[in-house]
Amino acid sequence: MRSFQFYNPTRLIFGKGQLEALKTEVPKYGKRVLLVYGGGSIKRSGLYDQVLGLLKEIGAEVTELAGVEPNPRLSTVHQGVDLCRTNDIELILAVGGGSVLDCAKAIAVGAKYDGDMWDFAQRKAVAQDALPLGTVLTMAATGSEMNSGSVITNQDTQEKLGWGSAYSFPAFSILDPVNTYTVPKDQTVYGMVDMMTHVLEHYFHLDPNTPVQLGFCETILRTVMEAAPRLVQDLENYELRETILYCGTMALNGVLNMGLAGDWATHNIEHAVSAVYDIPHGGGLAILFPHWMRHNLDVKVERFKRLAVHVFDVNPEGKSDRQIAEEGIDALSQFWTSIGAPNRLADYDIDDSQIEVMADKAMLFGPFGNFKKLQREDVVSIYKASL
Ligand code: NZQ
Ligand code: ZN
Repeated sequence: MRSFQFYNPTRLIFGKGQLEALKTEVPKYGKRVLLVYGGGSIKRSGLYDQVLGLLKEIGAEVTELAGVEPNPRLSTVHQGVDLCRTNDIELILAVGGGSVLDCAKAIAVGAKYDGDMWDFAQRKAVAQDALPLGTVLTMAATGSEMNSGSVITNQDTQEKLGWGSAYSFPAFSILDPVNTYTVPKDQTVYGMVDMMTHVLEHYFHLDPNTPVQLGFCETILRTVMEAAPRLVQDLENYELRETILYCGTMALNGVLNMGLAGDWATHNIEHAVSAVYDIPHGGGLAILFPHWMRHNLDVKVERFKRLAVHVFDVNPEGKSDRQIAEEGIDALSQFWTSIGAPNRLADYDIDDSQIEVMADKAMLFGPFGNFKKLQREDVVSIYKASL
């Protein structure tokens, strides 16, 4: 393992009926709350009324920022920063999926920064302060509820960049599986693909002696794969929603990352696609990840073989390591297709016309990936294989 420090300050509040915890958590930070949410799902589900009811009970003064987009935009972050300043906001409360949470994280640092928070995404500055942030998560996917990452799209430059800081962990996150019942089938699938790729990004590392980490990864993958086919047929099943919600958090809250450096190249490659075509993150990953795997099979074929045998139950008898590894990749791709994920860029009407543009965007900070450092030609080749 490599040496590491682990620190995660987010209070995770998990389970049925836990929304009530707003009454004890919010007053710790103040009275003036900026409520941030998306395009209206929380109004349709009734969660908006529940949250406002609880905030009213504790006498909070609520300002609202509605309409955060999937793939949240910098222009919306700017609106939120203005609202924080005008209303002297003390706590930001994000109610929604990863996009709402990511937007709220950007607002939280932007409100305490003299310049434009886009500086953080561009690596020109590092956030040194933030308003406190609480979240009520409505969709299992990104892990944003218990990590310090955020991904923002600048529409003017067509850039989608991840950033993070020591100040961007939510102070608390409330996760009630019931609040994920209304996530439609396609978004449920994208979320499960996303969390599986978070696990895989950790799984593909070159650090030695990480048996526990590999085992954790395999357990989460097998668990998601066991629940997923049943959940897409039974969207209001409490136990399945509970399992998936917990998997999503564990996949990217730092636990899997202890003692190793995960790869993360495919996330960068996908963000460049979303930047140009505004497609769902999980959908893009379902298409691209198997091609990243095929492209890098020879870097460490034993790791791919282990995945095939431990997670996809590939029978190794009489086969070469490479054959076993390839069967595992095919099994992953088929599994995603079987639950309804796309598997070609053409499924989103994406052709080869913007490949060079996307490759430029992916290469913004130079070659990337810890398992295999990708050069521009690698990225182009992965895009072409994904068409
Ligand atoms: O906007 P509303 O109306 O709320 O609808 C959303 C949105 O249309 C809907 N939805 C969410 N919860 C719902 C619901 N609909 C019905 N019932 C509910 N309970 O689902 C749609 C997608 O929501 P979004 O928040 O965009 O999805 P997700 O959670 O997958 O977040 C995706 C974003 O997170 C970034 C992605 O790049 C993308 O921008 N990521 C963030 C990460 C992080 N912060 O750590 C890591 C990830 O790898 C990822 O890159
Ligand atoms: Zn992701």
